[in-house]
Amino acid sequence: MGWTKKDLLGLEYLTPEEIELILDTAESFKEVSTREIKKVPALRGKTAVNLFYEPSTRTRVSFEVAAKRLSADVINIATETSSVRKGETLIDTGKNIQALKADIIIMRHNYSGAANMLARALDISVVNAGDGWHEHPTQALLDIFTLKEKLGKIKGLNVAIVGDIAHSRVARSNIWGLTKLGANVTLCAPEMLLPVGIELTGAKTSSNIDEVLKKADAVNVLRMQFERDEGTAFPEQLDYFKKFGITEERLAKAKKDIVVMHPGPINRGIEMSSEVADGKNSVILEQVTNGIAVRMAVLFLISQAREAKK
Ligand code: NCD
Repeated sequence: MGWTKKDLLGLEYLTPEEIELILDTAESFKEVSTREIKKVPALRGKTAVNLFYEPSTRTRVSFEVAAKRLSADVINIATETSSVRKGETLIDTGKNIQALKADIIIMRHNYSGAANMLARALDISVVNAGDGWHEHPTQALLDIFTLKEKLGKIKGLNVAIVGDIAHSRVARSNIWGLTKLGANVTLCAPEMLLPVGIELTGAKTSSNIDEVLKKADAVNVLRMQFERDEGTAFPEQLDYFKKFGITEERLAKAKKDIVVMHPGPINRGIEMSSEVADGKNSVILEQVTNGIAVRMAVLFLISQAREAKK
């Protein structure tokens, strides 16, 4: 089965087969970044536009590197210096980018659902690079790719996602992706940061970090999204670190080979200690490397599907 979708908006909308297809395609693209000349011609003559309404380092650069390694032309729009500042709507901005004959818009936006809305309004492809609290599909895909690379499979794995679940699009995309591929997901956080009804996704919840870590094959640690909180839900930072922070002492009681992940940016000393972030179980920088192959796969599959429809 091939890829037929115009857009990538979230893992909620993908079948397990479509997720596997992205992972397998990423596998074959990983090698490109190890070549002397890190480029293939797959997207030559295509234009990708990075439209980011929120701060980002990793994701924006990763998409740019991925598109360039596929030989696409890449335009970066910084919304602080664009007509968005003059009150242009998202749809108008999108339609203008489409009128410039771009092929793919890669968008990060602070509103949940913004990517879905833009995708409906445009004929060109939209890739969601994170929308509000909703989804961040390529982050979850690169997390899953890294896990599979480290542990050989996803089915049956116990994966803990720890931290600010309430505000996290990374958590939501990971829940969809991991459960679709047959992993057991446990969300661990203070109760205030566990959204009501989140168990309906098939994930379990717990506020006992030591119990959760004991069973986990992998732990994905999330950043406290202070910028998304209205000042009420968050525990004191030091208190959080004491009760939920991933430290060497805590890991000493977990499985010896537990895989430690973090989407970045890390708040060292809040959700995780520096020793753990830089320690032997951490795959945080491998996640960043894998992000390129995963994003190359997404851009490639989407672009191929568009060509096939022409
Ligand atoms: C995440 C994001 O922006 O959703 N970061 C990322 O894309 N690597 C997580 C975060 O900001 O904490």
